Amino acid sequence: MRLKDKTALITGGARGIGKEIATRFAKEGADIIIWDVLDEGEKTSEEIKRLGRKSVFHKIDITNLANVQKQANDVIQEFGRLDILVNNAGITRDNLLLRMEESEWESVITVNLKGTFNCTKAFIKYMMKARKGRIINISSVIGLFGNAGQSNYAASKAGIIGFTKSIAKEVGSRNITVNAIAPGFIQTPMTDILSEEVKKNYLSLIPLKKFGLPEDIANLSIFLASDEAKYITGEVIRVDGGIAM
Ligand SMILES: NC(=O)c1ccc[n+]([C@@H]2O[C@H](COP(=O)([O-])OP(=O)(O)OC[C@H]3O[C@@H](n4cnc5c(N)ncnc54)[C@H](O)[C@@H]3O)[C@@H](O)[C@H]2O)c1
Repeated sequence: MRLKDKTALITGGARGIGKEIATRFAKEGADIIIWDVLDEGEKTSEEIKRLGRKSVFHKIDITNLANVQKQANDVIQEFGRLDILVNNAGITRDNLLLRMEESEWESVITVNLKGTFNCTKAFIKYMMKARKGRIINISSVIGLFGNAGQSNYAASKAGIIGFTKSIAKEVGSRNITVNAIAPGFIQTPMTDILSEEVKKNYLSLIPLKKFGLPEDIANLSIFLASDEAKYITGEVIRVDGGIAM
């Protein structure tokens, strides 16, 4: 019960990595708020309630700052505070730069990077007032080493790293830690759609010779959210089977 009686919000918590983080946080004793655009979030929230924790699902698009701020106020009204924010929601719209539409660039930057800004901005004032908080941003190894066909995604994930370090410096004196996780290839609906050829290619580059699972990201998230990680901030930790070494 490393997160006993903490309140945590996970964006993109309906499925994939976010769902695993939400469920595992609940098993560690946290109450959970899920923000997602997918109705599946309701099912995830129901599953968490069956674990004996309080949970709510808000269907919300994190790209709209006004909506995010309004919903954040509602969260604080209902739960009294937010201890842990996990900025996990993310999308891909892969294309080579020559073919990339402006809309593909904009949607990825807006969900991944602006969404992280929106949610952090909406909750940081409450965390500063409480003089404690944990923010975990889900970046990617693609933000570290780039990838042909993913310039939009790489830029958004590298942006998250710069954002993480800057906010860590801004709020450190308020006892708020801000860290980023850079996952490698993790088996989720996001990667299920990739061709067998692309998957084979990735696999050949991974020293541990297997893909990661959502639980691998959840394990580190629990640690970063727990008291054990109280002196870690501004850090980017890879969970990637060694691919970015
Ligand atoms: N799967 C991987 O290999 C991998 C690797 C590195 C980083 N990541 C990152 O991990 C995070 C989770 O990815 P995943 O693999 O679980 O993918 P996923 O597609 O299964 O989950 C992403 C979730 O984000 C939600 N979402 C998307 N846009 C949203 C919006 N505007 N507002 C609210 N919610 C929104 C989706 O509905 C979905 O539930 C993402 O940020 C992704 O970039 C994944």
